[in-house]
Amino acid sequence: MFSAEEFADLVAIVVDLKREVAQLKREIAGMAKVGSVEEADAKKGYRLNFGSDENGQPKLSPWLPHPEAGGKAKSWFPLSKGQVVAMMTPPGDPRQGFLLREGFTDRFTPPSQNLDENVFEYGDVRFEIREGLVHLKVGATKITVTGDKIAIKGSTDFEGDYVRHKSTPIDKTHVHRNVQPGSGVTGAPRP
Ligand SMILES: [Fe+2]
Repeated sequence: MFSAEEFADLVAIVVDLKREVAQLKREIAGMAKVGSVEEADAKKGYRLNFGSDENGQPKLSPWLPHPEAGGKAKSWFPLSKGQVVAMMTPPGDPRQGFLLREGFTDRFTPPSQNLDENVFEYGDVRFEIREGLVHLKVGATKITVTGDKIAIKGSTDFEGDYVRHKSTPIDKTHVHRNVQPGSGVTGAPRP
């Protein structure tokens, strides 16, 4: 059996372990917190609102960096005020917290119900990519690119130097073959 001294040591070890487990529990509980975007800044990133404290003041996170891709391929999809996101914080250092986008809410609903398309939506702009199709819509104006053609719905300004069809100009510089005064139909535009 244990001597009184050994038993006292064991009790001290158990007390230490209990304290460490409690500390770990607190840290794990604090690692992931869900909140909504309260403040946004192009340089500093975002502060989240985790609800109100006992005085009715919002509990705000520190500034957290933009949750974007920063490499050769870069992204810039700013979060909206009220958007729900999660803050992940490695134990022990709240300054190393980062944000994870948390998906849709009643206020910010999905832009699609179709699992076979990719959609980016912003205001009245909508960009869709499906197998064999790219679709861009801005208000009532639409451009659809498929494997065999480009379809444009909307008034169209060509602002480059020329517009050609198979090398033949069809812009303001083009002239026609076989023109004679009278009621005849002209020939095709001249290359
Ligand atoms: Fe013409």
